[in-house]
Amino acid sequence: MIAEALQYLATAALTGSAHRRFARSSVNLWSRAGRCSRDWAAHEANSKEAISTAISGLTQRRTAVVLGSGLLRDVPIEQLAESFDTVVLVDLVHLASVRVRLKGKRYRNVRLIERDLSGYDDLAARREPEPLGFLRSVPYLDFVVSANLLSQIGRGVKRRYEAEASAGMPADTVERLIAAHIQGLADLPCRTCLVTDISYTVIDRTGKVHEEADLLHGVKPREVKARWDWPVAPFGEESRDYQILHKVIASW
Ligand SMILES: C[S@@+](CC[C@H](N)C(=O)[O-])C[C@H]1O[C@@H](n2cnc3c(N)ncnc32)[C@H](O)[C@@H]1O
Repeated sequence: MIAEALQYLATAALTGSAHRRFARSSVNLWSRAGRCSRDWAAHEANSKEAISTAISGLTQRRTAVVLGSGLLRDVPIEQLAESFDTVVLVDLVHLASVRVRLKGKRYRNVRLIERDLSGYDDLAARREPEPLGFLRSVPYLDFVVSANLLSQIGRGVKRRYEAEASAGMPADTVERLIAAHIQGLADLPCRTCLVTDISYTVIDRTGKVHEEADLLHGVKPREVKARWDWPVAPFGEESRDYQILHKVIASW
C-alpha cells in the first residue's frame, strides 16, 4: 500500500495535467503485474521475443518507437536502447519507477512522450482519425512496435464513449479507432510489429468457459506470426474459482 501510494504520488507529480488522471490505472497495472509476475512471465518473454524477431535483419537502426511502453515489462528495452540510436517511448503515463529505472541504466538515447494514442479526439472533432499520424514527423524512423496497447485503447475508448454518452460520435467509434491503429501501423514506411491481446475468456477450475469477448471488436489484425495465452487474472487474483485468460497475437 505504501509503495503504491508513493508510486502514485511521484507519478502524478511527474505527469502533465492532461494525462494525470491516468496515473491511477497505471499504478494499478503495476501492482497487478507485481502480484502476477510468475503467471505473466511467459507472456512477457513471448512479447519480447516477437519484438526481437521483428527487428532482426534491420540494416538501419536509427529511431525506434514503442507505443504503449507502460511498465516496460514486455518490451526488450535493453536490446532496443543498445541497438538503436534513439528510442522513443509513448504512453499516456510513464510511471515514476520506470523513469528511475531508465535513469539508473543511464540510457541517454531514450525519450519519453506522454500522448493519447486512441484518436478519439480526432473523431470527436469530425476529422478522420490518424492516431499514428504524428509518427510522420519523427525523423529517421526505422521501427515501430505497438506493445500490448491496442486492446487497452479499445477499452478506454469504449469507457469514454459510454461515460460521455457520446452525442455525435459514430456508433462504430471503438471499431473505427482499433482499425485506424492497425491501418496506421501498416501505412508506416518502416518495419512495424503489433503485439496485442485479441480476446478474453473467463474459465472455472473445471476448464468450463463462462464468458468470452473479442477485444478487437471484430477488427482483424494482419499476418499473425505468433500466438499465445496470457493469464491476465490467474486463480486467486479476481476470484478463487475463476481465471481470466487473454489470447495474444504478434504480427510483423
Ligand atoms: C498492458 S499495458 C502495456 C504494457 C507495456 N508494453 C509493458 O511492457 O509493460 C497497456 C499500456 O497502454 C497504455 N494506454 C492505454 N490507452 C492508451 C492510449 N489511449 N494512449 C496511449 N497509451 C495508452 C497504458 O497506459 C498502459 O501503459
